[in-house]
Amino acid sequence: MPSEIVSVLSNQPVGEDVFALELPALHTPKPGQFYMLRREGSVLLLPRAISLCRKEGDTLTFLYKVVGKGTAELAAMRPGDNLRLTGPLGNGWPLEKLSGRVLLVGGGIGIAPLVSAAKALYQQGNPPDCCLGFPHQPFYHEPFTPYCRTLHIATESGVAGQQGLVTQLFDPGQYDAVLCCGPTPMMKAVVDLCKVSGTPVWVSLENRMACGVGACLVCTCTDHQGKNRRTCKEGPVFRGEEINFDP
Ligand SMILES: Cc1cc2nc3c(=O)[nH]c(=O)nc-3n(C[C@H](O)[C@H](O)[C@H](O)COP(=O)(O)OP(=O)(O)OC[C@H]3O[C@@H](n4cnc5c(N)ncnc54)[C@H](O)[C@@H]3O)c2cc1C
Ligand code: FES
Repeated sequence: MPSEIVSVLSNQPVGEDVFALELPALHTPKPGQFYMLRREGSVLLLPRAISLCRKEGDTLTFLYKVVGKGTAELAAMRPGDNLRLTGPLGNGWPLEKLSGRVLLVGGGIGIAPLVSAAKALYQQGNPPDCCLGFPHQPFYHEPFTPYCRTLHIATESGVAGQQGLVTQLFDPGQYDAVLCCGPTPMMKAVVDLCKVSGTPVWVSLENRMACGVGACLVCTCTDHQGKNRRTCKEGPVFRGEEINFDP
């Protein structure tokens, strides 16, 4: 898989502890794929998995939240700093299989891999509806606007949009497919709603990773048959109905 050293183009805060990192695009990733990122010369052994957020022209944008040492190191990077970029990795959203009304559901930093999905669906002539949920102040929702039929926001604190959870914003029965990414309890809740209405649903899992290429099994999840599925290799996008969220 491709692995190159690239120079940071920009790295700007776009929300509380949330940054948008721009890097030169050396390949054309599929929406829903991810990359492994590691600052050149980092003392940290492992790269960190970050989803493709969007590709515009020759620029890839990654949206990430600072949660620990690896993402703090990314946040400290300046234009011109070097970073090893490995990917694109994994399987993206099954956009070519989708028709009819499509709903995108994102929670917090989980909105990242949905921006490129919204753009691709728009370009397929099928702009999706979009529901985004945040604990408090929303961030990076503007990039969805040009590509979505409708965009609804929920915040738990009530500072913007409808107060409450993103799952209160939609009825999956009105849709032919749902794509979802966010915290595990939110994805589980969305999948449960979709099971009731019989709506096909895909989720993008963000399990902890080490190798990112299927060799170490650190990222394994299980399906309802008890079969192990590697998030980096068979995912990160899976049919939501197949995944056991309570292993
Ligand atoms: C396929 C994939 C795509 C991802 N896409 C994005 C993205 O677009 N934007 C983004 O901000 N993050 C994304 N993540 C999560 C990101 O990889 C982790 O937040 C990051 O590795 C944390 O590294 P750290 O060193 O900063 O934190 P650590 O010091 O490793 O951990 C700090 C805290 O974060 C928790 N944590 C660590 N890794 C994860 C994880 N994978 N999921 C949930 N909690 C975790 C730890 O349990 C701990 O509480 C993705 C993960 C995967 C597997
Ligand atoms: S991260 Fe090593 S197998 Fe997935």
